[in-house]
This record gives sequence, structure tokens and C-alpha cells, in this order.
Amino acid sequence: MAELKLNSTVPSNQSVSIPILGLGVWKSRPKECFEAVKFALESGYRHIDTAAIYGNEADVGAAIRESGVNRSDIFLVTKLWNADQGYEEAQKAIDVSLQKLGTDYVDMYLIHFPVSGKRNESWKALEKIKQEGKTKSIGVSNFMVPHLEELLKETEIVPAMNQVEFHPFLQDRELKNYCNAKGILLEAYSPLAHGQKLEDERVTKLAKKYNKSNAQILIRWSLQAGNVVIPKSKNPIRIKENADVFDFQLSPEDMNEISNWNENFRTCWDPTTVV
Ligand SMILES: NC(=O)c1ccc[n+]([C@@H]2O[C@H](COP(=O)([O-])OP(=O)(O)OC[C@H]3O[C@@H](n4cnc5c(N)ncnc54)[C@H](OP(=O)(O)O)[C@@H]3O)[C@@H](O)[C@H]2O)c1
Repeated sequence: MAELKLNSTVPSNQSVSIPILGLGVWKSRPKECFEAVKFALESGYRHIDTAAIYGNEADVGAAIRESGVNRSDIFLVTKLWNADQGYEEAQKAIDVSLQKLGTDYVDMYLIHFPVSGKRNESWKALEKIKQEGKTKSIGVSNFMVPHLEELLKETEIVPAMNQVEFHPFLQDRELKNYCNAKGILLEAYSPLAHGQKLEDERVTKLAKKYNKSNAQILIRWSLQAGNVVIPKSKNPIRIKENADVFDFQLSPEDMNEISNWNENFRTCWDPTTVV
């Protein structure tokens, strides 16, 4: 495995390369979101994941401008919310997001959720939005294999990325293999299982073995599993801690051991029931 660093990127099937570690900002309230994003950028993060529904796009944009980091060096992701899905609606929604972010373009625009009867029309809108240069790349989120199969029959552009919940306690290998086969990057959201599995004793045991924190073990596992990873923290110490995962490597035996931990444990919504 090539040596990974905080500024390592992975190429996508579109013309962008994606920093392998980003900062998530779901549930970051406006002021704390501004501080978190600014601090993360100052600490070397170059990938920020927000969404229209998070209500903090304006703070993300302000933090980017205040950080002093060139906009072109930052990979900025936002998402089309469910209520805005549809061909016309999605085209309006990106303009609202761009206005709030205070930027002419995002680096990736994602369909937040595979809304029945709307998602394929929304995708056509995303293709247009990409053509117009309002986003450099397009992808999806919470798409399961049947949603992707359906989309790939219709699409001209294969999604660059599928952002899904993924951590040792939720490993959908069928989805991961499908994405790999189609050249779609898998991005792991809630890589810390939304904080709900940090105290798992098997994680604690590995943290002691590698002299790292429990969160660092979970983030490192996801990176070594070949995912793009977006842990969220509003806390500067934890933002730094979550990026300090490049000075150790989980052994093949430990990676193998963790691969047995799947228990289909979801902390967020369940897209498997969406037809
Ligand atoms: N597309 C989707 O539908 C979707 C759904 C969920 C999430 N996401 C994206 O993925 C990002 C990450 O997922 P997430 O926010 O659900 O959960 P997460 O990153 O798995 O966990 C975040 C929780 O862990 C805590 N935490 C962070 N670092 C820690 C550390 N080093 N030690 C101890 N606790 C720590 C955070 O608290 P503090 O903030 O207080 O540190 C927060 O409570 C989101 O912010 C969002 O950008 C997308």
C-alpha cells in the first residue's frame, strides 16, 4: 500500500482527485462550524463535506475565505436535499447552495438520498450542472446496489463517488465490491459510527496496541480499506487527532480481524428499504 498522507488524493472516474480524509460538518452549529472548518484547513485538511440540509453552508464558505487557503486547493462537497429533487428543482438548489457558500463552483455535488421517483431526474440535472461548471464532479449518497444499477442504465456520467455509512460495524461488502467494479469511489460517512462505538473493547484493545486513540483506529481502518473518509468533529483537539493517522499502519492480521466485526449497525438512515 502506498504511503498515505493527509494531503494524499485518490483519482476519480471524473476529472478530479479527492483528498482521502475530509472534515464532516453535519450537526455543527453555525459558529462552531465556522471555527471547525477554519481550524481544519489551517491544520492541513483540504476536503470539507457539507450539505444544504445541514444549514451551515454559509459558515463553511466564510471559513474557507478566512482560512487563507486557496479555494482551488480545497475540495468542497455539498449535497442536493430530498425536497429539492427533480430536474428543475435541482438546478435551482445548486444556485442557492453556491450563493450561501459564496463560491462559483463546488468540487463535488451529491444527490443526498435516493428519493423514489425523483433520483434519476435529479441525476440528469446534476449532469447539466456539471456541464455548466457549477460543480467539477457529481456523485451520489446513500445509494445501494439496486439504486446504482438503475442509475447506470440511464446515465451518461457514472457517479464519481457514493457516500454511504461505512465503519467496522457496518461493512456492506456487496456495495463496496459493486462500487469498485464500476469505478465509483466509496466515501465512508459516520466513520466513528457517529461516536456510538468508540468504546467498543476490541477498538480499545487495538488503540492500546498501536498507542493511538480509539477514533484513530477506526479512521485508519477505513483508509486502509480503501475508502475516502470524513470524520466530523467541532473540537480542535479532536480535529487534529482525527488527522493524525498517518504514522502507523494496522497489520494485515488486524485488518482481517476487523473485517469480521460487521453487525449491520446503522446510526443514520436506512436506504436499503428504498425502492
Ligand atoms: N450523506 C449522508 O447521508 C450523511 C449522513 C451522516 C453523515 N454524513 C457526513 O459524514 C460526516 C461524519 O459522520 P457523523 O457526523 O455522522 O459521525 P462520525 O464522524 O462518525 O462521528 C462524529 C461524532 O464523534 C465525535 N468525535 C469526533 N472525533 C472524535 C474523537 N477523536 N474522539 C471522540 N469523539 C469524537 C464527534 O463529537 P465532537 O464534534 O464533539 O468532536 C461526534 O459526536 C458528517 O458530519 C457528514 O458530513 C453524511
